[in-house]
This record gives sequence, C-alpha cells and structure tokens, in this order.
Amino acid sequence: MPDKVVLAYSGGLDTSVAIKWIQENYGVDVVTLTVDVGQQEDLQAIEAKAKAIGALNHYFIDAKKEFAELYVFKGVKANAFYQGKYPLSTALARPLIASKLVEIAEKESAVGVAHGCTGKGNDQIRFDLTIKALAPHLKIVAPIREWKMTRDSEIEYARSKGIPMPPERKKIYSTDQNLWGRSVECGPLEDPSVEPPDDAFEWTTAPEKAPDRAEYVSITFEDGVPTALNGEVLPAVELFESLNALAGKHGVGRIDHMEDRIVGIKSREVYECPAAQVIIEAHKDLEKAVLTRHELGFKARVDEEWTFLVYAGLWMDPLREALDAFIDKTQERVCGVVRVKLYKGGLHVVGRSSPLTLYDLNLATYEGDTTFDQTLAEGFIELWGLQTKAANIVKRKMRRNEP
Ligand code: ARG
Repeated sequence: MPDKVVLAYSGGLDTSVAIKWIQENYGVDVVTLTVDVGQQEDLQAIEAKAKAIGALNHYFIDAKKEFAELYVFKGVKANAFYQGKYPLSTALARPLIASKLVEIAEKESAVGVAHGCTGKGNDQIRFDLTIKALAPHLKIVAPIREWKMTRDSEIEYARSKGIPMPPERKKIYSTDQNLWGRSVECGPLEDPSVEPPDDAFEWTTAPEKAPDRAEYVSITFEDGVPTALNGEVLPAVELFESLNALAGKHGVGRIDHMEDRIVGIKSREVYECPAAQVIIEAHKDLEKAVLTRHELGFKARVDEEWTFLVYAGLWMDPLREALDAFIDKTQERVCGVVRVKLYKGGLHVVGRSSPLTLYDLNLATYEGDTTFDQTLAEGFIELWGLQTKAANIVKRKMRRNEP
C-alpha cells in the first residue's frame, strides 16, 4: 500500500493540479482537506472535484467558530494591523489550517502534508513553521514551490490530465478570503502607482456610490472582544458576517498599501476588511478610555511585536503565548460600548462609554467648580520641566562662549 500525504485543498487550479502532481512525482496517495474559515465557497463541489481528480479521501472541517474565537479575537485584543494597515486576515487563518492538516495526517497515518503556497509569499512560512512545530516528523510537500511550471504549462498539464478548469473567463485576480477579510492580488494591482480597478472589490461598495445617509453601529465589548451589535448579542461568526455586510455597504474596509513580506519582497497589497477595521478602531478607542497611559504606551509596543510574530509565521513561538498573557491581563477592563458612524467609505468613532472608564467629568470639565485643584498645576509644571529648563540655560551659555 503506498504512503499518503494530506493536501490542504481549496478547489482552485493550483491545488487541483497538485493532487495529480504529487501522485505522479512522489508516488503517494493524496487525501484532501478543506477547512472552512468563512471563505464562502461551495464545499460540496470542492469535495466532488477532489474525488474526481483522484483524491483517495476528502475531509471537510468547519472551523469558523474556532477561527473567530481562538485566532481573530486575539488579533482584536492586540489591535493587530501589520504595518499600520493589514488586519492579518490571511495570516491568522494559516496556523489554524496547518494544525488541521496535522490532525488529519495523524488520523490517516500519513507520512506528510502538502499545501499550495508559492515560494514568494508569507503563507509558506506560516504553514511550514506551524507544521514543523506540531509534528516535526511529517514531510512537507509544496508542489507550487517545487514544480517550476509557468501558468501556461500548468494549464497545459491540467488539460492533459483531464483536470476540470475554472470557468473560461480568465481569472485576473488571485484572492484569499475568510471571516476577517479578503485579499486581492495580481493583474493590474501589481502596478502600485495605479488605483485598483473597481472589479477588484467584492465586499465593499465604491465610497462614491455608497448610501448618502450615514449609518451608526454600536459595538459592545466584554474582556476586549466584541459581543453585540446595536445591543443584539451575537456569536462571533455572525457578528463578523453582519458587520462585514453593513460596513462594506458604506464603502468601509478598503485597504491599499505597500507591504514588506518576510522573504524580503515589497508588494502592493489590496484588501477588503470592513468588520476588522471597524472592530479594531472601536477597540483601540475603548482601550484609551479604560487603560492608564502607562498601560497604553507599553501595550502599543507589545501589540506591534505580537502582530509581527503572527505575520511572520511564528504563531507557535512561545513568545506569542507570553505576549497573549500580558494582553489578556489588560483586557479584563476593556468593557463598554463604542458608537461608530459609517459614511461613504469613512469610519468614525463618535461615542464611547464604559462602567470602567477612567474619564472623570468632574476632573475634565471647564465648567464650574471641580475637585481638580488648579493651584497644584503650577508646582507640577515646575518639576515636570526641570531638566528641559536647565538644558536650555546650558545651551544659551554655550552659545555666548562661542568665538
Ligand atoms: N499579504 C498577505 C499576507 O501575507 C495576503 C496573502 C494572500 N495569500 C494568498 N494565498 N493569496 O498575509
């Protein structure tokens, strides 16, 4: 009986060709696995296709809830925007899919696992490092990284093997999507000087075509994670889905930026992440109401480190868990409601309230008597600027002594 490998199968051309290519080049059987992280694909058609191409067996795992609660929620608590912009939608899903590959490989007593990542991207790092951390004995096969086929020879190979092809209309874009966002690459997007054409977007209305009337949404947070929309308590998966639809309708969520990949390549990346943008902006604002300035300053550095680790495929590094422990401690007080206004591509936090807020109207108000003793300010300023004042005195003295 030949050995087996378990292939992460999306149903697209690359992983379809990979089924046959692995069978031929490695002489092993291929078991396919599709993990549902909210990519909204026809999962039955994917299974039928895998079997038609020759997969020995196909597995399907619905991991939407796990993805939302054990991966995306951590990104929310860490305000995770890589290089200030990208909410890690793809990056967060990879370690989850990789761990499911390992699970099925163990169940099937497979000798290895396979994925459809290229050798130019970040996803290969995320898959490989998660697999190596969980099951170092498993062989990792990455056909697209190995086979050196051009797109045309790949299509030729698919044709010669009778692999069903995607619809005739040539696919311009390469996309990846899940509950937390959609990424769009290739075609006209590879020229970073040119605005993305409208057909690159599927989740968001063009801001200029968005409704003329603004809409408000209030998001309730408990322990740093969103639990309700407009007062209605929702499970995470539904909350993300309805916020993606609502904010997307108002043209909110489009991201276009220059990104540094871990392999060193600079790339122009385009995303649609309506729910992620609204939730993280709201979360950041609420943190500013409930955390001290000392906590906020330090946490910003932790958040950045956390985001980099996850982007860079190091989900399994113990540092990630250690940072999570710090972040979770701060989130115990991140509870409250944030009101966001959505209008023609803009998202604006317009209100926040929390039973744990550090805001004290009595201290902050400019109206009437308060408990803040203004006479203390004079002495405070004297001490606060002590060294700044001294340094400037020295500077003037030096200038006077100059020839
Ligand atoms: N640049 C993003 C990242 O590294 C998006 C990757 C998209 N992946 C894909 N297989 N299409 O996370």
